Amino acid sequence: MTSSTDRVVIFDTTLRDGEQCPGATMTFEEKLEVAALLDAMGVDIIEAGFPIASDGDFESVQEIARRTKNSVVCGLSRTALADIDRCGEAIRPARAKRIHTFISTSPLHMSAKLNMTPEEVLEASIAAVTRARQYTDDVEWSSEDGTRTEIDFLCRCVEAVIKAGATTVNIPDTVGYTTPQEYRGLFETVRARVPNSDKAVFSVHCHNDLGMAVANSLAGVQGGARQIECTINGIGERAGNAALEEIVMAIRTRADALPYTMGIDTTMLTRASKLVSAVTSFPVQYNKAIVGRNAFAHESGIHQHGMLKNPATYEIMLPEMVGLNKSSLVMGKHSGRHAFKDKLKAMGYELGDNALEDAFRRMKDLADRKKHVYDEDIEAIVDEEILTAHD
Ligand code: KIV
Ligand code: ZN
Repeated sequence: MTSSTDRVVIFDTTLRDGEQCPGATMTFEEKLEVAALLDAMGVDIIEAGFPIASDGDFESVQEIARRTKNSVVCGLSRTALADIDRCGEAIRPARAKRIHTFISTSPLHMSAKLNMTPEEVLEASIAAVTRARQYTDDVEWSSEDGTRTEIDFLCRCVEAVIKAGATTVNIPDTVGYTTPQEYRGLFETVRARVPNSDKAVFSVHCHNDLGMAVANSLAGVQGGARQIECTINGIGERAGNAALEEIVMAIRTRADALPYTMGIDTTMLTRASKLVSAVTSFPVQYNKAIVGRNAFAHESGIHQHGMLKNPATYEIMLPEMVGLNKSSLVMGKHSGRHAFKDKLKAMGYELGDNALEDAFRRMKDLADRKKHVYDEDIEAIVDEEILTAHD
């Protein structure tokens, strides 16, 4: 049984953290197209950009704010008041708007990057949240490098920013350093120690440097966070951010272990993945979970045989759930007779036993020489078989 507190907010940052990675720059029109798809897909919050970063970013955030119908439109800003003002201006046209302000809180970042004392960081955070509240009552504060931040200081900051009006508190794993158990514990500790913690929604934001971004995000939710920051195809700084499609399908598929609700139309995930890959020119790895081209493809004879009897043998979700027409049985040297016969049937061929056996052998010979056996290859084999008809 789920309650309203089990609703997880999906915060997409493809257009901000995703675009921030080398080579992923999108044009103005491409950003509008991605934002429209995220809006239609049911993403709760679209982080549209970093308005102070450039005039281009400001304009795209502003246009996304004008056009978005359902999602909250969010802009990022540092704690500098000029950043907040620029961000507030950019999101002004939105039906629902959020300002997301961030500052580093770890000892290393405060000294090496900001050259600020903890007290200065605390003061800047309070001032930024207070200023942001002049533009919207939906304000998020992030403790950059949160997972390497000293816990007492983190709790002080969280308490103070909530008092100043922050409605969402994000504790990012900026450098992808944490582990699931540790990250879950961090949220449990902060929520237990900060007296006004129930006044804000806690948020996870995980990078994938050790390949744990999705696992860490879900662990943070188990620790009480109710917002997940993620990107389509997991694009983002360095090894990327937690992949939206993986988070969403993990929650959908394992509702027994992850009993949370979301507002995402999962049948749009494949389309979103293809669009983001096309506009960034970032290929999606073949074996990428959910949206990789092999995610619902089977070549081994044993697996194909099982799939033909009952798809649940080797698939834990239906391809239709992510917007794919069907699974594919790929012909190759590992394929079996059953799958080959089925493939021929789907292509409109029905061969007798001897011809089938012969065609199957030829397909295997070809697969040994060639990496992929395409439908055209199968057509050629069958046509030849028909010409030299045995039965
Ligand atoms: O990774 C990070 O810490 C960020 C913040 C700006 C939220 O992207
Ligand atoms: Zn980030």
